[in-house]
Amino acid sequence: TLPKKVTIIEVGPRDGLQNEKQFVPTEIKKQFIHELRNAGIKEMELTSFVSPKWVPQMGDAADIVLDCLDEQTRNIVLAPNRKGIDRVYSTSCKAIAVFVGVSNSFNKKNINKSTSDSMAELKPIIQELKEKGYFVRACISTAFYCPYEGKINESDTLQLCREFVNTGVDELSVADTIGMAAPNEAYSLFVKLKEEFPMTLITAHFHDTRKLGLANIFSCLQAGIDRFDTSAGGLGGCPFAPGASGNTATEDVAYMLERMGIETGIDLSKLLDAIELVRPHVSRQIESGYYRLHAQN
Ligand code: HMG
Ligand code: MG
Repeated sequence: TLPKKVTIIEVGPRDGLQNEKQFVPTEIKKQFIHELRNAGIKEMELTSFVSPKWVPQMGDAADIVLDCLDEQTRNIVLAPNRKGIDRVYSTSCKAIAVFVGVSNSFNKKNINKSTSDSMAELKPIIQELKEKGYFVRACISTAFYCPYEGKINESDTLQLCREFVNTGVDELSVADTIGMAAPNEAYSLFVKLKEEFPMTLITAHFHDTRKLGLANIFSCLQAGIDRFDTSAGGLGGCPFAPGASGNTATEDVAYMLERMGIETGIDLSKLLDAIELVRPHVSRQIESGYYRLHAQN
C-alpha cells in the first residue's frame, strides 16, 4: 500500500541555486524561501556553509539564516566540515545536513577528502551535534552511480548509511547525484534502507538528468518511502558532478502525488509564484511539465 501522506523537502534554495554561476541577490533568495513556505513547504534546505571559494553562490549563508528561520519549518543548512559547523553554531539554526559520497573519487572532487577521511571527521561532529540537540541529516551522494567511477555497489551504499545511522543521525537523504538510477534500482535500495533502518527518516533525492525522477519516486512510494527532496522549478545540480542537472521538480512531484490522492500540503499555484520570483535570476529554463503548462508567460 502506498503512503497517504508525503513530506516534500524543498532543496531549491540550496541545491537549486548552488550551481548558478551568476550570483542570485540575497534578497531574492530570502523572498524565494518565504514564498516556498507560503506554498506549504514544511522542511527546506536554506543554504550551505561551505567554502565561498569553492561555491561563491552560497557565500551569503549567514545572512540568509539570519532572516529566514521560523518556527513552522524544519530549516536545514548544509555544512561539510568543522569550520562549517562552527559557522552554523553562531546562528540559531538547529538542523544540519552533512554530506558524503559513497564514491571516493566524487568525494575528493566535492570536499577534497577521501570518503573514509570525511567519515572520520564527521563522526565526532555528529555525536556532538546530537548531544547539543540538533537535528542531523546525512546526505549520501553517488548512491547509485558516480560520474567518475560508474556503477556503485548497493552494498557500499548500505554500509555508508549504516555508519551514519550507528553514529546517530536522524535522517538519511540518499541521492542519485547524476540522475542515472533506474526505477528497479531505486526500489531495490530503498526497500533495504526501510527494512534495515526503521527508526531513521529515509528520504530519496533524485536528480532528473535523464527524466527518470518521477518514475523513481513512484517506485520509492511502492518501497514505502514517504519523504522526497525536490526543487522548485527543477533547478539544481552539484558543481562537482559533471553532467548533473536539476532535482526532480517540486511542482511535478506535488502534481503527481495530488493526482494519486496522496497529501503533500503544497499549494501549486503559490509554488508557481515562488518559481516566477527566482526565474529571472537563474540561467536555465524552467523545464518542468507543470510549470510550462501553467505559468502565465
Ligand atoms: P579545502 O580547500 O580542502 O579546505 O576545501 P581547507 O580546509 O583547505 O580550506 C580552504 C579555505 O576555505 C580556507 O580559507 C578555509 O578557511 C576556508 P583561507 O584560509 O584560504 O582563506 N573554508 C571555509 N570557509 C567557509 N566555510 C567552510 C569552510 N571550510 C574551509 N565550511 C571544503 C574543503 C570542504 C571546504 C570544500 O571542498 C567545500 O566547501 N566543498 C563544498 C562543495 C559543495 O558545496 N558541494 C555541493 C553540495 S553537496 C551536493 O550538492 C550533493 C547533494 O545535493 C546530494 C546529491 O545530489 O548527491 C547534497
Ligand atoms: Mg543534489
